[in-house]
Amino acid sequence: MLQRTLILPVALLFIGGANAQAAGLPTRNITGQSPWINLPKSMPKFARTLPKNLLGLSIEMDQWPQWAGTTLGSPNKFVNTVLNNIASRTGYAVNLRVGADSEDTGFSVPSVPVYSAIFPNATAEFPFPEATYVAIGKDFYALSANMPAGTDFHVELTNYTQTWISTAGQILDSIDLTFPGAPGLQIGAWADAYRDSIFTVAGTLGTGILDSAAGALVKSFSVHNYFGRHTGDPVTEPKSGQLMGRNTIRGNVTRFAAQVPQAEAAGIDYVLGETNSFSSHGSPGLSDSAEAALWLVDFSLQLASVGVNRIYFHEGVGFAYNLIQPVPIPGNGTTATSVPRIQAAYYGALMVAEAIGTGANTKVAELSSNSTSIAAYGIWEDERLARAVIINSDVFFAGTNGKRSSQTVELGGYTNGKTSIKRLTAPGANSTEVLWAGQNFTLGDPTGSVQETWLNSSSITLEATEAVLLCFK
Ligand SMILES: *[C@@H]1O[C@H](CO)[C@@H](O)[C@H](O)[C@H]1NC(C)=O
Ligand SMILES: *[C@@H]1O[C@H](CO)[C@@H](O)[C@H](O)[C@H]1NC(C)=O
Ligand SMILES: *[C@@H]1O[C@H](CO)[C@@H](O)[C@H](O)[C@H]1NC(C)=O
Ligand SMILES: *[C@@H]1O[C@H](CO)[C@@H](O)[C@H](O)[C@H]1NC(C)=O
Ligand SMILES: *[C@@H]1O[C@H](CO)[C@@H](O)[C@H](O)[C@H]1NC(C)=O
Ligand SMILES: *[C@@H]1O[C@H](CO)[C@@H](O)[C@H](O)[C@H]1NC(C)=O
Ligand SMILES: *[C@@H]1O[C@H](CO)[C@@H](O)[C@H](O)[C@H]1NC(C)=O
Ligand SMILES: *[C@@H]1O[C@H](CO)[C@@H](O)[C@H](O)[C@H]1NC(C)=O
Ligand SMILES: *[C@@H]1O[C@H](CO)[C@@H](O)[C@H](O)[C@H]1NC(C)=O
Repeated sequence: MLQRTLILPVALLFIGGANAQAAGLPTRNITGQSPWINLPKSMPKFARTLPKNLLGLSIEMDQWPQWAGTTLGSPNKFVNTVLNNIASRTGYAVNLRVGADSEDTGFSVPSVPVYSAIFPNATAEFPFPEATYVAIGKDFYALSANMPAGTDFHVELTNYTQTWISTAGQILDSIDLTFPGAPGLQIGAWADAYRDSIFTVAGTLGTGILDSAAGALVKSFSVHNYFGRHTGDPVTEPKSGQLMGRNTIRGNVTRFAAQVPQAEAAGIDYVLGETNSFSSHGSPGLSDSAEAALWLVDFSLQLASVGVNRIYFHEGVGFAYNLIQPVPIPGNGTTATSVPRIQAAYYGALMVAEAIGTGANTKVAELSSNSTSIAAYGIWEDERLARAVIINSDVFFAGTNGKRSSQTVELGGYTNGKTSIKRLTAPGANSTEVLWAGQNFTLGDPTGSVQETWLNSSSITLEATEAVLLCFK
């Protein structure tokens, strides 16, 4: 998205269907100072529910038909395949939200069958600009029927300039939302691209808004967040090595952590309604690199660990931070492709989905670690430690002559048993060539066989810029 000034105060929910080592310091050789993480004997009291539908995608409205398939009954098969790869790992369809900047330029035009849009000319900074006009036709939203069964579909209504209560009140005048199973309303759904939002749970709900008729139907509070901004200026453009890492991610998550209990107390979900690495469509070469995959794993599990209920990674067509390119992308930029394909960050989503798993009563908590470059999470099923994710955010750049460092992480409290290891690997942080457990998902269906090894001791070695999933069988 572009930086936005317009407040989008209401949305309808249709339930249907590092601090990495500084760039330029590629290797780090720690000897005798092995990091250590703790596997607690029993599930910590502060463990949070790990929702099956934690991961969702937010889709720029002007390109929605490219994702859904441009006609009813003709889905984009590639998109559905790659969404199902994630869904099959959790047993739950990936949530979708359609909205963002271009929703502000959308007009309902019932005479148009599906949609038409006017796009400005591309610029170097924005090779894939957002539409200046979108005609929302008769079947535009009906295209959601093309998506996999069970998809939670969430549409943001456009251009409200009045207060939330009167806006939502107008909606209630025209739609009955009081029947059982009716969609809920969402409040929030705004925020400056990456600066602290002036809208907080306390500042919003503290106004008594929930006491209104519309307020009684609010089911979630939504905020938007980016870690910084793509500028196209070589000086200010984010650099490889600056996205992943414990301090960076925790620094960006802290303000949500404080608000989640307030939303909980009000009985509503807390949702990251639109997020990704860097606003203005991502930083080419960084947002579409292996670093973004590791970032997505750590960020998602960190958010879940503080109680955030759902996360929507923002997507367009041709954007650098996309997990998925739903159609061929012309040109010669880092996102160019002659066929639909996934991008590096998608592998992070696969790993998170597998960490969530299909089991019952799944909870997550961050595990203690005494290294700033090692983050770790435990995942419990019915209070049994079922899995752990460990991320080594030391930065290694492919193509440098330096030796790739590794860290051998001691698993405190590990009791011998059968433990499998799957790895999220890449030649380096700035590489787009990622593999999950040895498999390549570039074209949708995985190629190669699943690589799973077994833990033989109470420690595990991770290369710089690598993450592992341990399954305690
Ligand atoms: C790491 O330390 C070991 C042991 O001191 C040494 O043999 C090795 O050369 C070092 N590697 C790098 C890349 O500095
Ligand atoms: C982490 O803790 C372990 C166990 O106490 C210790 O051996 C190790 O040196 C520590 N590592 C670091 C990087 O502090
Ligand atoms: C949005 O609302 C403002 C204020 O009512 C109006 O000036 C503007 O034209 C509207 N934009 C669209 C796209 O409807
Ligand atoms: C877009 O580029 C074309 C061809 O260069 C030019 O004719 C047109 O005026 C441009 N449109 C806008 C809106 O700048
Ligand atoms: C958020 O992340 C960005 C880089 O990705 C970093 O520069 C910034 O310091 C982080 N913010 C906080 C509050 O830690
Ligand atoms: C890449 O595409 C741009 C815009 O189409 C063009 O100006 C440029 O010459 C191309 N660069 C290469 C190396 O092909
Ligand atoms: C990664 O970064 C290194 C060091 O800057 C550079 O030599 C290499 O070409 C980069 N690789 C890619 C794929 O950009
Ligand atoms: C994954 O598959 C794509 C498409 O076949 C290929 O271009 C790419 O090099 C493969 N990546 C790896 C790491 O094998
Ligand atoms: C565990 O031992 C087996 C058999 O000796 C070996 O193939 C495997 O690589 C070992 N696993 C690890 C993580 O070292």
